[in-house]
Amino acid sequence: MKTHAAITGWGSCMPPAVLSNDDLSTFLDTSDEWITTRTGMKERRVSHVTATELATLASRRALACADLDPADVDLIVYGGVSNDELCPNSASGVQVALGATNAAAMDLNTACTSFCYGLAAASAMIRDGTIRSAVVIGVELISRYMDWSNRSVAVLFGDGAAAVVLQATDREEGLMASVLGCDAEARQTLRVRGFGCGYAGLGITLGDTFWDFDGPQIFKRAVQAMARASGQVLERAGVSADQVGLVVPHQANLRIIESVAKYAGIPMERVMLTVEKYGNMSAATVPVALVEALEEGRVEPGSWLLMPAFGGGLTYCSLLVRWGDRITPLGRSDAELPPCTESALEMVNRVRAGQDPWGRSKSGLLAPVFPEARAPE
Ligand code: UT7
Repeated sequence: MKTHAAITGWGSCMPPAVLSNDDLSTFLDTSDEWITTRTGMKERRVSHVTATELATLASRRALACADLDPADVDLIVYGGVSNDELCPNSASGVQVALGATNAAAMDLNTACTSFCYGLAAASAMIRDGTIRSAVVIGVELISRYMDWSNRSVAVLFGDGAAAVVLQATDREEGLMASVLGCDAEARQTLRVRGFGCGYAGLGITLGDTFWDFDGPQIFKRAVQAMARASGQVLERAGVSADQVGLVVPHQANLRIIESVAKYAGIPMERVMLTVEKYGNMSAATVPVALVEALEEGRVEPGSWLLMPAFGGGLTYCSLLVRWGDRITPLGRSDAELPPCTESALEMVNRVRAGQDPWGRSKSGLLAPVFPEARAPE
């Protein structure tokens, strides 16, 4: 009998501090009207704790939901761009915090698609017998390395985390088909400059990061890639668009989601949306949307879920999941985040105050490292 990787637990951790469009207008030349009509976003969250803390709490909730002891977890996949430090990796920090002492720990960065790629990788490991269980996390703390002087990107992103538990099963459920790819020709359209060995020795620190971001290019390629991948994954599984119970897409822009749904032939009533209240949380968007869909009773037992995503790279994917019978948690964790004593705007202003005046980075200091990168405006 074939082994499958059932999703048996799910949990999210949303930081409480809310950054509104009007908050952004206090320091950027933007408006609620522009952001709402161009992106569908109204609010996003700013975290007062580390990315590892967000990831750990989401994982605790997912494990309680699955009623799985942390000691019985074989693998932790930490999906995302936001790491507290690069070595040791973040998954090992979650492993320690959870007490998941028997788990292997792996970070996976494919930008916004990191959770989906992690789900595909861990499901494959369960199917081939390498492991029997995994916690797969999507987490971001983008507020700490956002270029808050760049209105083209600063209005789009937010912080958050969610996780799922995967367990081996004989039942035909979990990830049934996936299409993964990378439109690398356009990798320069989304780049966070300032992280990594390429910048070593140039006196650059985290506060010096700034973003190359060609929104319209990404928009076009995102729609094409997600629509194509969604068509392929449905064909691969022999499932029609009519059979899809719910689309749980990456939430980068309401207009992108509407276009992908239209190409896929799926009405918006069957699309899960969180973009208005959380913005784009990169790797965390799909799992947070999945958790909220379950909490809102929008996932039917035995239904098909389609998960298209794209992100820096430009990586893309579309996953097709067959949900199991259970749509309610087996248990709940009573763990909570510590109280947040600052407003989101206060936290953002603190990051802004620590950032270099952008003149220094824009002087060309970063340019020689990646000459193919577009010069910042
Ligand atoms: O998850 C992966 C990352 N996500 C994405 O990359 C998202 C993909 N791209 C998009 O969602 C859209 O391209 C954006 C929302 C980023 C931009 O929307 P757009 O409709 O493509 O606008 P645009 O970039 O063509 O800009 C239109 C105008 C420009 O002014 P001019 O040149 O027409 O005078 C921009 O300077 O809007 C201006 N603009 C803004 N105005 C007010 C750009 N950002 C803002 C802003 N507030 N925040």
